[in-house]
Amino acid sequence: MGTFFSSSIGKKFLMSISGLFLVSFILIHLSINLLLLLPDGGEAFNLAANFMAKPIIKFGLQPVLAAGFLVHIIYATILTMQNNKARGNSAYASGNKTKEVLWASKNMYVLGLTMAAFLAVHLMDYWVPLQITHGAESIVIDGEEMHNTYALVNAAFASLPRVILYIVGSLGLALHLTHGFWSAFQTVGFSNNIWRKRWYHIGVCFAWVVGIAFSLIALLQFLLFQS
Ligand code: HEM
Repeated sequence: MGTFFSSSIGKKFLMSISGLFLVSFILIHLSINLLLLLPDGGEAFNLAANFMAKPIIKFGLQPVLAAGFLVHIIYATILTMQNNKARGNSAYASGNKTKEVLWASKNMYVLGLTMAAFLAVHLMDYWVPLQITHGAESIVIDGEEMHNTYALVNAAFASLPRVILYIVGSLGLALHLTHGFWSAFQTVGFSNNIWRKRWYHIGVCFAWVVGIAFSLIALLQFLLFQS
């Protein structure tokens, strides 16, 4: 087992499994964020954000999520360094893919670094005020006091540069996923000649739906939800 995880395919396996785990996080995150588009003054979004902040979820999930990001970044770095040393940047350039998928497949590490930079800003925007400095205001919904996470998001998206940053970050995520999604399924072995093509198409659709949905949330908050 130890030998498997220290081999190239073992490292790629860990990078793929952690990537698929992060995909499931992104799906949950996006589902909750879509509540930002309801015309209810942020009530549903605040209730969902409050549920996710419950100690059992917060202390159970957050360390696992952080570990998922760490494993993904560490193994991506090791593999990229090994690939660059062994074969140069053309290591990924194979197969019959569309231009943007081919571009993404060659630039996965740069896209990943862009995501990490976006995430750093993103965590400063929300995670730090909500969980570290307690800088968010409170609101009472159904008799329960909770953070007004909606007010924080709504205030952030009053600024056009912030909206643009989130659109760039979300489209960067989309490009990263156009390659990462199907490639991960292939690496973990859920793929044969028929499913390789299917995962590829599912992955590209998934990537752009996620990227465009996150972008639209930021844009519509700016255009329609400012008082
Ligand atoms: C419209 C765009 C987005 C909005 C409004 C948004 C909103 C939020 C909020 C409010 C939190 C804080 C949750 C809490 O600590 O209670 C959060 C956390 C987080 N977001 Fe986003 N997000 C957006 C896009 C993204 C994207 C594209 C990614 C992925 C690359 C992402 C990854 C994360 C991560 C990793 C956390 C920390 C999760 C935790 O530890 O609880 N977000 N986001």
